Amino acid sequence: MLEEIQKRKTFAVIAHPDAGKTTLTEKLLLFGGAIQTAGAVKSNKIKKSTTSDFMEIEKQRGISVATSVMSFEYKNKLVNILDTPGHKDFQEDTYRTLTAVDSVILVIDCVKGVEEQTEKLMQVCRMRNTPVLVFINKMDRDGKDPFDLLDELEKKLNIHVQPLSWPINSGTFFKGVYNIKNSSLNLFQAGATKKIDDYIQFDDLNHPSLNEKITTSDADKLREDIELINGVYDPFDIERYRKADLAPVFFGSAVNNFGVQELLDTFIEFAPSPLPRDTDMRLVKPEENKFTGFVFKIHANLDPKHRDRIAFLRVCSGKFERNKFYYHVRQDKQIRFNNPTTFMASEKNIIDEAFSGDVIGLYDSGNFKIGDTLTEGEKLHFKGIPNFSPEIFKEIVNLDPLKTKQLQKGIEQLTDEGVAQLFKSYHGSKNIIGTVGELQFEVIQHRLMHEYQAKCAMESRNYFKACWMTSDQPKKIEEFIKYKANYIFRDKDENFVFLAESQWLLDVAIKDFPEISFHFNSEFKLETASL
Ligand code: G4P
Repeated sequence: MLEEIQKRKTFAVIAHPDAGKTTLTEKLLLFGGAIQTAGAVKSNKIKKSTTSDFMEIEKQRGISVATSVMSFEYKNKLVNILDTPGHKDFQEDTYRTLTAVDSVILVIDCVKGVEEQTEKLMQVCRMRNTPVLVFINKMDRDGKDPFDLLDELEKKLNIHVQPLSWPINSGTFFKGVYNIKNSSLNLFQAGATKKIDDYIQFDDLNHPSLNEKITTSDADKLREDIELINGVYDPFDIERYRKADLAPVFFGSAVNNFGVQELLDTFIEFAPSPLPRDTDMRLVKPEENKFTGFVFKIHANLDPKHRDRIAFLRVCSGKFERNKFYYHVRQDKQIRFNNPTTFMASEKNIIDEAFSGDVIGLYDSGNFKIGDTLTEGEKLHFKGIPNFSPEIFKEIVNLDPLKTKQLQKGIEQLTDEGVAQLFKSYHGSKNIIGTVGELQFEVIQHRLMHEYQAKCAMESRNYFKACWMTSDQPKKIEEFIKYKANYIFRDKDENFVFLAESQWLLDVAIKDFPEISFHFNSEFKLETASL
């Protein structure tokens, strides 16, 4: 079993939209031998449509089930790439997917540098100490100075970085990269279809043949840059990377197949195998004999006539076996699965067993919520799947009183899937839906109508933040709930949530109730509101 676990490398590619995540993912699959032609994986359209196109959303849902996990074997390792949505409105999905990986590859556009979404994603990675490998993409375009880019990464993302390859110019004058780790030169050819990077060994950069390869002025500049880098950085320490203290940086151009092989080979060598995971009871180690796992994503069936869904489960320890009964901790019941699936690019296969690090798809008729834990009987819950405060809030107003039940069921099921967050008023029967983007409201309305035949309107509500509360004086929380009754709601796990209408009102609450801590997410140690 240990051998199986150590073989596995489970990760996600993350990026600000348009930096090249899809292109790089596809090229990794191509180089890994999982697909034969680029373009086979997914359409990018939904991400780019500003007005929503429901056919596209449906299509994308289909594609994204197929590409939720892409696995392939490469150099004796089993690589599991977890897909994350490209559209910014679905960023909460991405955050949840990040709970199921052991490392990430972060793609940066060399022209734009660190962008807004990059910062948010890195915040989530830092919270969990996820090791990060950085790929600076689009070197065939006139980008920022590479030293400035490194500086920007350190400052804006609050991480230490160390270049392991170094570019020779960018844009029209891009000549290639020098691999600092292997002391070799990889020359760039635009649009090259070659699959393997051609390295030229250059242990001594002062060798005159370097001038012939890339011109004297570029060779001099490279020598100068590398000397500077060697002066600034210590030799690369893989343990610091695995502890998420240092992010190695590579340069390349995904669309030109350039630097991808180098990235994949380094990833295989460096990236951690499945790591231990924290629960509310104890740390679970991947090599433990007994199976444990948690659900981090749920996908509805595309056929509205069939309500079954696919729950994606990350195996955290032991061996998962088909047709064996497992303990569903939240529901306190035994449950078994006849046809668990794994995914190989676009192929789905029924599997008999899965090991730590694997992600499997379980057909589900409504048993699962995001965050659910399965075990062989032990009562524990995996931690680290928080909900974050949404940015936009709307009240769902029922437009057809005869369909009240369907509407409620639809709302419950869609929010179980994690499409949006549901807040039910503590006094009264208001349903408030919170999301990070407008697109989800359209998706919800559309799906409620088509899958549950429930017609509703969405009315904007001016809430500023959802705040979860803790206090070592429970009486104070009770007092607050009474005092703010109209603004108190319950989330899906029955936690009390204060929906603050403005920063000012939140500040007043913080001042009036100093014994209460207000948090912007459901896992309290993460982000706390302060005056
Ligand atoms: P995303 O998933 O991170 O959102 O980005 P995606 O891969 O879709 O890439 C965004 C755009 O950047 C695409 O162009 C893609 O071709 C381009 N791109 C990716 N890598 C490179 C690169 O190394 N160099 C250059 N110059 N461009 C790159 P598009 O025009 O939006 O789409 P498409 O029609 O080319 O697919």
